[in-house]
Amino acid sequence: MIKRVQSWLGREDRQQPVDISPDNIPRHVAIIMDGNGRWAKRLGLPRIVGHQNGMKAVKRVTIAADELGIEFLTMYAFSTENWKRPKEEVDFLMRLPVEFLAIELDELIEKNVQVRVMGDSEALPSYTRKAMEEAVQRTENNTGLILNFALNYGGRKEIEDCMRELAIEVAEGKLNPDDINSQLIDSRLLSGGLPDPDLMIRTSGEMRLSNFMLWQLAYSELWFTDVYWPEFGREHLLQAVAEYQRRSRRYGGLK
Ligand code: FPP
Repeated sequence: MIKRVQSWLGREDRQQPVDISPDNIPRHVAIIMDGNGRWAKRLGLPRIVGHQNGMKAVKRVTIAADELGIEFLTMYAFSTENWKRPKEEVDFLMRLPVEFLAIELDELIEKNVQVRVMGDSEALPSYTRKAMEEAVQRTENNTGLILNFALNYGGRKEIEDCMRELAIEVAEGKLNPDDINSQLIDSRLLSGGLPDPDLMIRTSGEMRLSNFMLWQLAYSELWFTDVYWPEFGREHLLQAVAEYQRRSRRYGGLK
């Protein structure tokens, strides 16, 4: 059965309804939110204005994902490499989750959203860590959309840490090397408990993974758009899901 979602589209797209089948909604969507700086530059504005508007897009897309029936939404908010940016920009990015949660947490709770965070939280400023911990705690019993922020997250670091942990257990005789398999590794990664993303979206025209969920994206469908993240909205999410539904997922086998 095809559900028409024409009314969700922006004015310029109203002539082209997006057909979405409710039976094949990706369970887990992961997003590399890119292009904040270029969006701002194009408008002659400071980069941080791009990030501020990127935060608004996080809200829009969370609501749209929830309405669409997506179960898990992972957003790449800050990578382990983003510390290389100028201090003022890093400080601003560290304050954004605090601001986002101050504005949105009550509505997220009302919508039964569960907030999670994955990444090295030790290195975050205490105000960022505290705001995230509070959001995680206040939403831990919610049963709706899981909104998972990748914050100070790096795919290689995640794998390194997991390998180290397993190596220690082997050295201590607590783990038999023959018991190391994909399932065990899945459960020990920062995303443990979440299914692998079905769909990975990257905005701004860049076509790379930038150290994002390197293990988990092994069989995800990838969708790239030229749209800068601050402009991304529900109509783009719908386009991505519609394209996802046209893909044939074979996992290395035959159809
Ligand atoms: C990449 O764009 C974006 C980031 C490094 C930060 C992403 C963060 C947000 C969208 C806001 C997060 C909000 C919450 C609530 C955590 P860029 O700055 O690299 O853009 P550019 O490539 O055009 O310079």
